[in-house]
Amino acid sequence: MSSHHHPAHFPDDFVWGVATSAFQIEGASDTDGKGPSVWDTFCKQPGAIADASDGTVACEHYLRYEQDLDMIAQLGIDAYRFSASWPRVQATGSGDWNTKGLDFYERLVDGLLARGVAPYLTLNHWDLPQALQDKGGWANRDTVHRFVDYALAMHARLGDRVASIATHNEPWVMSVLGHETGIFAPGIKSRATAMQVAHHLMLSHGMAMRALREAGCKASLGIVLNLSPIEPATDSAADRAKARLEDGRLVRWYMDPLFKGTYPADVLEHLENDVPAVQPGDMDIIRTPMDFLGINYYSRSVASAGEPWDVHKSGLETTEMDWEVYPQGLTALLLRLHQDYPVPAMFITENGGAFKDPMVDGKVHDADRTRYLQQHIQAVADAMQQGVNMGGYMVWSLMDNFEWASGYAKRFGIVHVNYATQKRTLKDSALWYQQFLAEQATARLAQVA
Ligand code: FCB
Repeated sequence: MSSHHHPAHFPDDFVWGVATSAFQIEGASDTDGKGPSVWDTFCKQPGAIADASDGTVACEHYLRYEQDLDMIAQLGIDAYRFSASWPRVQATGSGDWNTKGLDFYERLVDGLLARGVAPYLTLNHWDLPQALQDKGGWANRDTVHRFVDYALAMHARLGDRVASIATHNEPWVMSVLGHETGIFAPGIKSRATAMQVAHHLMLSHGMAMRALREAGCKASLGIVLNLSPIEPATDSAADRAKARLEDGRLVRWYMDPLFKGTYPADVLEHLENDVPAVQPGDMDIIRTPMDFLGINYYSRSVASAGEPWDVHKSGLETTEMDWEVYPQGLTALLLRLHQDYPVPAMFITENGGAFKDPMVDGKVHDADRTRYLQQHIQAVADAMQQGVNMGGYMVWSLMDNFEWASGYAKRFGIVHVNYATQKRTLKDSALWYQQFLAEQATARLAQVA
């Protein structure tokens, strides 16, 4: 593929990567002392997962990590973003640490370093120990302190070797999809609970940041948010008001406390009795300065006060998730964040798409995914050209995996996984990314010479 399809001039230290999460790939859900997580429990609820599957086997990454590390190295990436499963390193979320679980992440981190790949650790990618959920989960303020202990334990084992630590992945998803709509674990349907959960997630983020710094952690510290521009379906006052409110709930509810130390007044007013309990000092803790902000971007969102927005009416290409392909929204989002907040370096910590991906003669010609990645990488470059400070870009995902409530039916990988044999096959998009990264590396060397 010729190089004029993608931008040539990313800074030398721009970090290219791929991302995964523990529950979606590891399997081994009760091996070597791992306790159950809320997702293990949720998968057993009839109807919760589209194909009635679960995470007991997934990609068998817990067993096959060496082979997966080789594959990662083969891609030529700078960094690998993964998450640790809290119940794998501490079965019940309090008390004893599980040495075998910690050993696994140590082998993974050392294996990455041995291959010249920087480890980017996420502490919480949704798989809370079920034993903590039994005591109220993230709605219980005590979970905040359990999380700080967990962060410190991971630091004690790996803090000298990981390049980056993100506290949480997508607090909005855990809060709203987990506790308000209930389509994700733990499957609760209460807006008041969801908002208390969101507050405790943010508080635990700030507390963990402070505790890690006090412990001398040298890794770059931050959080990962799922953010989208929210556009009104029409120019009507009602649609615009709806878009403003949804922006408040998705973007400003997280960005304002992190960077201004307040919750947005319009959302507080809208929530009425569902506002969370906030203790004196909490907001100061949440706004603890971060080294980076991670952003997961997939699509825009369209707000309508009337009939729900029909994604197929816009005429835009959509992915298998029914998400519009909307790269210009990424540029707009980054510019807006840069303008409205004193953001540190931003990373795209996830970006990618689920496409049909038939395997033909041992190959997957996923031109749609390659195009998606090219367009979004260009969208990042466009934002950078307009002055936005970006630290890196990571593809979701390294390989096909357990896509939460969609089960295994939706494939996001640049590597195909045959779930019957666990065979991994690089899709065309992986081959493209590999070549793109090789060109980036050549450009870097040329600059040094
Ligand atoms: C994000 C999640 C990630 C993956 C992608 C498709 O919300 O962080 O685990 O499921 O969506």
